[in-house]
Amino acid sequence: MTQPRKLFIKTYGCQMNVYDSERMAEALGASGYVPTDRAEDADMILLNTCHIREKAAEKVYSELGRLRPLKDANPDLKIGIAGCVAQAEGEEILRRAPVVDLVVGPQTYHRLPQMEAAARAGGRPVDTDFPEEDKFDHLPRGPRASRGPTAFLTVQEGCDKFCAFCVVPYTRGAEVSRPAERLLREARDLVARGVREITLLGQNVNGYHGAGPDGTTWSLARLVRALAEVPDLWRIRYTTSHPNDMTDDLIAAHAEVDTLMPYLHLPVQSGSDRILKAMNRKHTAADYLRLIERLRAARPDLALSGDFIVGFPGETDQDFEDTLALVRAVGYHSAFTFKYSARPGTPAAERPVLPDAELDARLQALQALITEQQRAAQQAMVGREVSVLFEKPGRLPGQWVGKSDHLHAVHATGDALERGRLARVRITASAPNSLAGVAV
Ligand code: SAH
Ligand code: SF4
Ligand code: F3S
Repeated sequence: MTQPRKLFIKTYGCQMNVYDSERMAEALGASGYVPTDRAEDADMILLNTCHIREKAAEKVYSELGRLRPLKDANPDLKIGIAGCVAQAEGEEILRRAPVVDLVVGPQTYHRLPQMEAAARAGGRPVDTDFPEEDKFDHLPRGPRASRGPTAFLTVQEGCDKFCAFCVVPYTRGAEVSRPAERLLREARDLVARGVREITLLGQNVNGYHGAGPDGTTWSLARLVRALAEVPDLWRIRYTTSHPNDMTDDLIAAHAEVDTLMPYLHLPVQSGSDRILKAMNRKHTAADYLRLIERLRAARPDLALSGDFIVGFPGETDQDFEDTLALVRAVGYHSAFTFKYSARPGTPAAERPVLPDAELDARLQALQALITEQQRAAQQAMVGREVSVLFEKPGRLPGQWVGKSDHLHAVHATGDALERGRLARVRITASAPNSLAGVAV
């Protein structure tokens, strides 16, 4: 009997890539590949890449440099580039990196088995189509093995918003929502395999508008309410949302659906109306703040997170002060901050960038404010009792690690803690990026 070939996938970028990597492993599983977590053992290495900021693509090329010796050691090794860099650079990757055997964009993963066979036959296939068919329909269903208590589920992909700085509409294509029935089926299947918390994914997840089983178009709120009926699915989350698609029915779901977790990632990017306009965000800072008020009226303990870009072309000191003011007004549980990175092909790439030292200074100032808010939000949990879904053993004996409803990482000790257990924990201390407590 021949040994099965081994597959190593390295995933960069957003959670959607994490989900896609699992689907690619399943697709190649049907071609006889088994997963490995050691690149040295692999017969196929896939880099599932991200193009969102400049450094992301550079990381891929330097990783390819590190992988080259493995090819000398194993002449059977094939290396593929998937994800958003594959979509953006296409053929260029084959020219720049001779070690690469195949290039596959994010919408054609169902064609991977044929591409793998073509690469084995000596070709260097490239597929960056945006085909009509849904890549997920054609992928084989996963092995029925049990799995950890949390999972991602992509419900919507692509983006029609065209923020002036962003490559996603080009790398992921137009917004497409998957039919609700298929998502419910996939969710039930995940639950049967031990999953208790599902995070619905989409570049504009709250813009979801999928075909419902009743012949109507379902909103994300409708989908969330249907998922809330799935037995043993204890927690539902969704990410990433755009403020302009935060509809009344979704806000109401936060008040009414117990299993919809009180946490929302709602990027605003800037607190300056001038910059928001230049970014093509199509809302003002005041619109955003009003929206937050309505969300908090529906769910007072809602934890908010966001994304911010500092140093967008033309951003003045005053614009940046407006961002700091917005952050102070909101009070985030956490937030991601990025230095503006000019992306080829996006409208903003034509505009002059600010000096890097200025970007660094603004990034630091914003990060300091957000860290302060994050610490305060965590400190406020000390002494309280929270629900934690446990995922893995901690570093200390008897300790387990999981996430609270508000997505805080919690390290806890207690009897009968185990993977997949939902337990009440009294929080006793706050560390920089996690909470500690005792199961009650
Ligand atoms: N669809 C989501 C996330 C897009 S990418 C949304 O609309 O919010 C994740 C984050 O990367 C963005 O929210 C933005 O803050 C950041 N980002 C995107 N393009 C960028 C660029 N060119 N430079 C710096 N940060 C960028
Ligand atoms: Fe990019 Fe804007 Fe679309 Fe988000 S909404 S993916 S930032 S274009
Ligand atoms: Fe990156 Fe593509 Fe996700 S650019 S952030 S991997 S959609």
